[in-house]
Amino acid sequence: MAFPINRPRRLRRTDTLRRMVRETRLSPDDFIQPYFVCPGRDVRKPIGAMPGVAQMSVDNVVSAARETFAAGVPAVILFGIPSRKDATGTAAWNDQGEVQRTIRELKERVPGLVVITDVCMCEYTDHGHCGVVRNQDVDNDATLELLVREALSHARAGADIVAPSDMMDGRVGAIRTALDDEGFGDVAIMAYSAKFASAFYGPFREAAESAPQFGDRRSYQMDPPNGDEAMREVALDLEEGADLVMVKPALPYLDLIYRVKQEFNVPVAAYNVSGEYSMIRAAGINGWLDEERATLEVLTSIKRAGADLILTYFATAVAQRLR
Ligand code: PBG
Repeated sequence: MAFPINRPRRLRRTDTLRRMVRETRLSPDDFIQPYFVCPGRDVRKPIGAMPGVAQMSVDNVVSAARETFAAGVPAVILFGIPSRKDATGTAAWNDQGEVQRTIRELKERVPGLVVITDVCMCEYTDHGHCGVVRNQDVDNDATLELLVREALSHARAGADIVAPSDMMDGRVGAIRTALDDEGFGDVAIMAYSAKFASAFYGPFREAAESAPQFGDRRSYQMDPPNGDEAMREVALDLEEGADLVMVKPALPYLDLIYRVKQEFNVPVAAYNVSGEYSMIRAAGINGWLDEERATLEVLTSIKRAGADLILTYFATAVAQRLR
């Protein structure tokens, strides 16, 4: 009989002992900090559903990103809110756009910081869908062309990694080919590979002003019950040339973070999305739970499941605490 010889509590007695046998440790290196770039100068527009997060103009994103990098976080991911939207999202590939200008400024003023860009049409189209709409649905192949233009524009501005989040079939291959043809063979692709049609993106759509004006995203984002299909999506993106793959959201899909890491053994990112952030913040602000502990517990669980990188709105704050 194991008990009383085996007593697992022996190694939990003191903080020092617990430190010695701790299996998972968060580090600032694990994090990617998202930023929302809007038009203007010295703008900081708080997002109601995401306390502590704001849309910021280029200058303010650059100052914030400097702090992020100083806290030890290696990378940021940029989302753009253009001044003008249209049916095909032409602002997405404007070389003078908010994201493109931010990339150039960051490359100049925060050397060493890895700059990732979200590549998608939903922030740039007036209907809020992630591509070209035909007959009330997003046309896959017509959208690929636009995503390629956007990714190339980000690469020209100096992006280190482009991250397609649209969930069109074949977009990783299309972007990889175009980048290579245009001399951007060193620009990496982080694919939002297993991206689910999730209720947890709600607050983001306020932040990015990207809510669909009709219908929803279920004809392109994945159906939440499907795990095997997520594995096929990851396999396809890797075949098409993805350097890093992502599972999104993180918490309701920890099983997939685990499966993807075990099966493919490539760098895996997980997106601790807006709704996951807002839940913790809301409960914290109300005094319903200890926000700091809950945050560390959640981020640790995502890493323990197998994520090498975590995109999280908590990145800079947690990194500063970890130091
Ligand atoms: C763009 C995109 C979304 C998110 C990241 N990229 C929103 C969506 O698909 O509706 C969500 C991020 C978050 O909720 O924090 N397609």
